[in-house]
Amino acid sequence: MKVQVKDLIRVYKLGDVEVQALRGLNLDVEVGEIISIIGPSGSGKTTLLNIVGGLDRATAGLVQVGDITVTSLENSHLIDFRRKNVGHIFQNLNLIPTLTAAENIELPMIAVGTSRGLRHKRVDELLNTVGMVDRSNHKPDELSGGEQQRVAIAAALANDAPVLLADEPTGELDTATAKVIVDYLLIANRELGKTIIMVTHDSSVARAAHRILKIEDGSIKAALTPAQVTEDETALSYVDQLRARINDITEQLANLDKDFRAAKIDGDEYTSKRQSLKQTKAGLEEELHRMGVVT
Ligand SMILES: Nc1ncnc2c1ncn2[C@@H]1O[C@H](COP(=O)(O)OP(=O)(O)O)[C@@H](O)[C@H]1O
Ligand SMILES: [Mg+2]
Repeated sequence: MKVQVKDLIRVYKLGDVEVQALRGLNLDVEVGEIISIIGPSGSGKTTLLNIVGGLDRATAGLVQVGDITVTSLENSHLIDFRRKNVGHIFQNLNLIPTLTAAENIELPMIAVGTSRGLRHKRVDELLNTVGMVDRSNHKPDELSGGEQQRVAIAAALANDAPVLLADEPTGELDTATAKVIVDYLLIANRELGKTIIMVTHDSSVARAAHRILKIEDGSIKAALTPAQVTEDETALSYVDQLRARINDITEQLANLDKDFRAAKIDGDEYTSKRQSLKQTKAGLEEELHRMGVVT
């Protein structure tokens, strides 16, 4: 199913403060396409998926999934849309801890009123699809992270929704396990024809898609082919963290100067603290340079 996003805006109000999570975002995903979305933390990736999936509402703009205008749906219809048209996979919080793998896969089908017989047949099929037949009676905490995500993929496929949304589906997994999860998403795309929008920090995961879109400050800033995605693209969040720590230390240094001038600390303390902060800052700057960032 085709997904179209036009001029999407989402503003969150926190008391008097407004946070613009999405600032006129445009996106077109073709039927049967798999796209990756990369971008720094806080750039609006989760907000985008949540609005497309009917978990959150837009402030303005349009989301169209197939022939359904999601942004115009009333709340009651939105729930129905969500159950039937999208499968949503998250980094964690996918599974109900008290239910077995099989029961977790069955749950979305209960919500849409699928008959018991059909449900059980489908659970068996899906356990097979994700290679979890011999783990069907295990509860989530008796499964590895990768196995849990395989169950989550099966649950997302349960109602045969045409669109899969995956928000950091490999976030806490090691590289080898992440690859297994991506392979199952690729099976869902190629063999079951699912249209997939996947958010990831991992460049090797991102490269599995047909197209990679880079989001920054709430809108799409670039479209890349898998070959164009280098480690640097997804390393952005790490660079952001380094920059934030450097800014933080710069501020601490300024405060230290103030304290010394106001005679709140003596010369020895000032010198030693200043020395240590300067050293840490230099180390962080060196790390930034190693990553090819010019400061
Ligand atoms: N429910 C919310 N209330 C207030 N602000 C929010 C909420 N959800 C997200 N935000 C803010 O919107 C921005 C985008 O968040 P998010 O979509 O989660 O980014 P990402 O998934 O790219 O890290 C951030 O500044 C975040 O703090
Ligand atoms: Mg997020």
